[in-house]
This record gives sequence, C-alpha cells and structure tokens, in this order.
Amino acid sequence: MSGRSARGAGRAGGTPDGGYPGGMPEPRTFRDEPVSFVRRSGRMSEAQERAFAELAAFYVLDVPRDVAWTSVHPEARLEVVAAYGREAPLTVEIGSGQGHAIVSAAGAHPERDFLAVEVFRAGLARTMLDAERDGVRNLRLIEANAPEVLATYLPAGSADETWIFFPDPWHKKRHTKRRLVRPGFGATAGAALRDGGLLRLATDWEDYALQMREVLDEAPEFERAFEGEWAERFDGRVMTAFERKGIAKGRDIRDLTYRRVPRI
Ligand SMILES: C[S@@+](CC[C@H](N)C(=O)[O-])C[C@H]1O[C@@H](n2cnc3c(N)ncnc32)[C@H](O)[C@@H]1O
Repeated sequence: MSGRSARGAGRAGGTPDGGYPGGMPEPRTFRDEPVSFVRRSGRMSEAQERAFAELAAFYVLDVPRDVAWTSVHPEARLEVVAAYGREAPLTVEIGSGQGHAIVSAAGAHPERDFLAVEVFRAGLARTMLDAERDGVRNLRLIEANAPEVLATYLPAGSADETWIFFPDPWHKKRHTKRRLVRPGFGATAGAALRDGGLLRLATDWEDYALQMREVLDEAPEFERAFEGEWAERFDGRVMTAFERKGIAKGRDIRDLTYRRVPRI
C-alpha cells in the first residue's frame, strides 16, 4: 500500500470536524526548526505493507498535517479519550524505532495507555505487527515529527510519562543542532507532561548525555528525579539493538529521569 492510501487507513484522532474548530487555517510552507531525522525511503516488505493495509486502521492515528507529511497542524489536538476509548495514564515514546520497548511495556501494563511517535515507516510497521502478535490493544502510533506532537498535538498535561531512548546522536559538530534534545526542548516536552510526570531518557553517546542533562537542568519545566551523576537504568526499558551496539563499542549507557515541575 502506498503512503497515501495508508493515511486514509488511520483513525482520526483530532476533533470531529478534522481538528480545526472554526475552520481550517492555511498551512505554512516551511518549518522553522531543523528536524532530528532524515526520512529513509525504500521499499516496504510484504509484511510491512500488510501491517499498514490491515492494522493501521486500529493502531495509527490520522494526524492533520501542516508543512510536510511528517508535520502536525499546530491547531490540531488529539482527543485522547476518543483515541483509546477510555481514560488511563498515558506513556508517550518519542522515536520508538522498531517498537520493542513500547510493545513490551504496553503488554506488561494493560492498565495504562501507550503512544509511539516515529517517522520511520518500517519501524511503525514492525511495531504494529508485534503489537498484533502479542494481542496489545492499549497502544496507538503517530507517524510524525515528535516535537510537534509534544508541543501542540497532545493536550497540555495529557502525558503521564515521556520516553526518549537512544535518540539519533548527530555526533558531528556541524550536526548537533539537529539533536532532538537541544536548548528549548524543556518547554516542548514540558507542555505535554502532567505536573509531576516523568521524562525518561537514555543514550550511549556521552556528549549527548551531557547535553541532555545540561538542557534539562536549565529548563524551568523540569527538576532532577535522580541522585548522583546519572539515573539508575530504568527497569521498563528493554534492551534494543542500539543499546547492544553501544555496549559492544565499549560506551557507557546513560539514563536520565526528570520530573515535570507543577505549573503555577
Ligand atoms: C537511534 S533510533 C532508536 C530507536 C529506539 N528508541 C531504540 O532504542 O531502539 C532513533 C529513532 O528516532 C526516530 N526519530 C528521530 N527523530 C524523530 C522525530 N523528530 N520524530 C519522530 N521520530 C524521530 C528515528 O526515525 C529512529 O527510528
């Protein structure tokens, strides 16, 4: 199935009139910020095609777009209860990759809801296939640029936890401005999290770990939820290929946990 037809297959998560109370504003024509990903093209396997054809209607939320296919219209809002058919604490994973962490967590915690935000279509397909195999129903997926989802698409305070595990390191000096966790990210992540909600991060790039800590230590929206230099490894984080590769290369894995400071 092409990307275009897969879009139609997703369930609408915005307001009933398409997400734009009072009419549809014109989309902008360019993004203001560099994005933290490069979209990979390439053919989807038969199984991946099947995932989009048969499973997207249940798992993938159809997001109103702005400037690009991975964008989110700034005036659109997710109706969380309608998307899951109930009210439950929501965990959001940014850059969920193949979905190993979130599918496993969703299976282990049927009392919670989970949202995977990813731009990598093959990863989204894998996530749906594994979720279906495991009978996981408390998971939804959004194919979009995560900062836009966090900043505006998720209603303020709607997330109980946000996870960012092994984000692309953009380790070359001229590329560090593309990192997801960069100055200003505290406000982005802080918008979606409820007061007291947790932001959990992990990386195998020391330089990025230091940047994450610096950015979040300075963010008025967050306070440390760990003692000492780094957080303990989060129990709910399953081992993925990215962590394995980091360990194989002799890198230290750094975890960080921050708590959303109550809004005044
Ligand atoms: C290095 S992989 C890690 C995947 C997974 N968290 C893991 O630990 O196995 C980073 C993932 O983040 C995704 N990603 C990067 N920037 C993103 C963005 N702005 N919005 C959504 N996904 C993004 C990439 O497509 C990629 O799949």
